[in-house]
This record gives sequence, structure tokens and C-alpha cells, in this order.
Amino acid sequence: MDTETTAQKAPDIGPILSRAEEGPGRLSREELALLLAAEGEAERALLDAAYRVKTRTVGRKVALRGLVEMGNVCSKNCFYCGIRRGNASVERYRLDEKDVVRMARWAWEKGYGSAVLQGGEIESEENTARVERILRAIREWGGNGFGVTLSLGEQEEEVYRRWKEAGAHRYLLRIETSNPALYASLHPADHSWTRREGCLRTLRKLGYQTGTGVMWGLPGQTVADLAGDIEFYRTRDIDMIGMGPWIPHPQTPLGAGREVTPEWAAGQVRLGLRMIAATRLQLHDVNIAATTAMQALDPIGREKALMAGANVMMPNVTDVAWRKAYRLYPGKPCLEETSDACSSCLEMRVESMGEQIAWGQRGDSPHARKRLAPPRPSHS
Ligand code: 5AD
Ligand code: SF4
Ligand code: FES
Repeated sequence: MDTETTAQKAPDIGPILSRAEEGPGRLSREELALLLAAEGEAERALLDAAYRVKTRTVGRKVALRGLVEMGNVCSKNCFYCGIRRGNASVERYRLDEKDVVRMARWAWEKGYGSAVLQGGEIESEENTARVERILRAIREWGGNGFGVTLSLGEQEEEVYRRWKEAGAHRYLLRIETSNPALYASLHPADHSWTRREGCLRTLRKLGYQTGTGVMWGLPGQTVADLAGDIEFYRTRDIDMIGMGPWIPHPQTPLGAGREVTPEWAAGQVRLGLRMIAATRLQLHDVNIAATTAMQALDPIGREKALMAGANVMMPNVTDVAWRKAYRLYPGKPCLEETSDACSSCLEMRVESMGEQIAWGQRGDSPHARKRLAPPRPSHS
């Protein structure tokens, strides 16, 4: 491509960025799409503006969540995911309750401030009760000071309610894409976008700090779709965002036969940085994760994400023995490193970017704090 002509044709996004910096929700869908397609100097200016907003709204502190991969048994069959039900070559596992609690406790003792319990989607009374027992055991020592996030897929309202009562504070359920037609192309016919969206509403109603997210770079996805995703976050008043690049998994219908070239990976990372930056500029005070999938495509992908507006990291605290079995996408990092090694590595990485870890803090987003704070008496 002739870069000179591109530079001449590129619209001046300066005024859009200045307006976005003033406050949340200032951009139209078309303007978001423009930011998502920015190149060269405009792209640099976008990331810088997002970093300024991050510094002002959530600060230059990185909140940590210890990620416990509880099990890879899943009843679903998403076309992109390595642990989909239909992948017969995956060795299935489910951690013992006491091991989940031990790994979460390790995170707490390390000063991580919170943990995420993630696993495949299982809807059964047996599983519901098991998670309840785990949550109660964590609450015994963690109390309310240790944040507990669940990421266990779509469930009935009653299940979400029971888990909340047992001690969960936050729930992460990616919508994957805000475009229902695109969603339909990525999932079997019995997977429902509408149910998923309904789950997010329920979680919010129940008082969970609610997180969602999407994958970018999906086949058939456009920049307009991604702009729609950011609008989805805003209109649903989402508290935290975890999104990442789609990475083709060879043992999936969507990924089979797709080669990951270095150029493609670099493009995915750059698009992701623009997506993070545009999300920060439109939402301001939410938590945004620098996800591991960014690191799978670029050794310093997560650090770059921090510089583009992300403020949360989720170091894996699962015993190394299980990490290989929980592979949603290829290239997952830290398969051999112990949780201790990842902790020191992460601290160094964060500090190398001039940021600090928010040790011992639950790391609620200001957005969630405002929404969920108990109402103050009117005379105060
Ligand atoms: N590439 C990237 N992310 C993936 N996920 C599942 N499969 C892949 C893949 N191939 C993500 C989905 C899901 C989360 C747990 O992992 O967004 O919600
Ligand atoms: Fe199961 Fe989640 Fe993978 Fe879909 S993306 S197959 S729900 S683990
Ligand atoms: Fe695991 Fe660096 S974060 S080795």
C-alpha cells in the first residue's frame, strides 16, 4: 500500500480523541470504528490518549487476579474453542475442591487481592453445590477483603443467586460478539446469544460486578462489529472487560487449516491494542484486562495492553500439571512455569513499564464501586 496516499487520506482523529478524553460515552459508533481502523501516527495518538484516561480514572496500578482453571469439562461446543465438547483428544480433568481452595489461598497469601475461578460450562445441581462449597471455604479465610470472580458460563438465575450468597463478588461471561448473526456463525444452533445476554442482565440485577468481553479478529467480523461491541459494554453498564484475539485452534472447526503467520499475529495484536484503547476512551472507569491471549501472540503483548489502557492481569495459579489440559487456543504461555515463577516474572514486567502492582487490594473498578456502593444517608 502507498503509505503517503494513506497518510493523506487518513482523517484527523485529534478532535475525536480530545472529546473522548473529556468524559465517557462521548463517541458515536462511527467514530469508534474510525479509531479502530487508525494507522500510523493516528494509531499512536489513540493509544496515548487512552493511557492518559487510564492514568486519570483507574491509575497506573495493576490489579491482580489469580486464575484457577477448575476443570476443562464443558457441555458446549463453540466452534473456536480447544476444550469444546467435540474435541475428543483433550484429556478431561476436574480439580478436587480442596485443591481449588488451596490455589485460591496461594493467590491470597501472595497478596493478589482476588481470584478468578474459571472452568467449562456445567449445569447440574452437583456442580452448583460443589462451587458453593468452594466459595464458602474461601470466604472462611478471605472474608470480604478477597475478591472472588466466577467464570463458569451460562446458568439459571437461582444458581447465580446461590453462588453470590456463598461469597462470589464478580462474574465474567464474555458475550464473544455483540452481533447475534456473527455469534450464530461461531456456535452450534442450540447455543443462544439471547440467553447469554439475558445472563448478563441477571448477573447485574443480582448485584454482581459484571464482566464481559469479546474476541477480535474473528472470521467475518468487521470494525463496525467491534465498535458495536464497545457500545454493548456501554449500554449494558458493564464493570469489567476481558477480551482477546481469536487464535485459530487446529482441533476446532473454525481454526482447522488456518495458519498463524507472524504477520497475522502482529496484526491481531495491533488491532487488539486499538480495541483496548477505544474501549478505555469510551468507558473511562471500568477494569480492562491485559489478557494472556495477547501474550500468546506477542511475548510482551500484555505489557503493550497496559500501555493502551488495560489495568488488570490474571496470572495463572493453577498447578502446572493441569495447565496443558486447559488449552482454549494454541501458544498459551506459562505452561511450565510455576505460580511462583509467574508471580516474580509479572512483577518485573509490570515495573518495567513504569507501573506498580496493587498488592493486597481487591481491585474493584471505580465504575463498580459507584454503582454498588450502599446509598449514603442524605444528611451526610
Ligand atoms: N482463541 C481465543 N480465545 C478463545 N476463547 C475460546 N477459544 C478461543 C480461541 N481459540 C475464549 C472465549 C471464551 C474464553 C474463556 O476463552 O472468548 O469466552
Ligand atoms: Fe466451553 Fe467456553 Fe470453550 Fe465454549 S468457549 S466450549 S463454553 S469452555
Ligand atoms: Fe508466567 Fe512470565 S507470567 S512466566
